[in-house]
Amino acid sequence: MEMILSSVSKAKIAEILKPILADQFVLYTKARNYHWNVQGSQFLTLHKKFEELYNELADDIDETAERIRAYGLYAPGTMKEFLKIAQLKEEAEGNYPDQFEMVKRIANDYDFLASRIRDIGYEVQSEFGDEVTAGKLYSIAERYEKHVWLLKSIIEGGN
Ligand SMILES: [Fe+2]
Repeated sequence: MEMILSSVSKAKIAEILKPILADQFVLYTKARNYHWNVQGSQFLTLHKKFEELYNELADDIDETAERIRAYGLYAPGTMKEFLKIAQLKEEAEGNYPDQFEMVKRIANDYDFLASRIRDIGYEVQSEFGDEVTAGKLYSIAERYEKHVWLLKSIIEGGN
């Protein structure tokens, strides 16, 4: 495996990072939405938890976008583009799920995103030999998997 990445490889890696950025942005928006609109017995816990998550996602978004830039491409930066390339779905307009349904939806999104990021990490590692980017992706996936466990524990406790 060659150790120096060509600019062609970097551009290909940057391209496959774009949908990750878009998914992180969709999830960020959903966490803010739920932070504002959650109601019920777990209000305080969830209001704070969703805030913690969107703050973390704001940092993740920045990291992904700047990785794309470092690898020579422009980072997508419009809602239109994010929604076009994201695989995660926004919450439906005017729909405010029950507190535990919000937790479940966010947990499912993290679950989905963690496995997408794992797959992309593997692709980046095996096809391009980019251990550094793969390592970053794997550590994000690990963090998201922890959120899944934590969020699902909230649901278990609440029902
Ligand atoms: Fe707030």
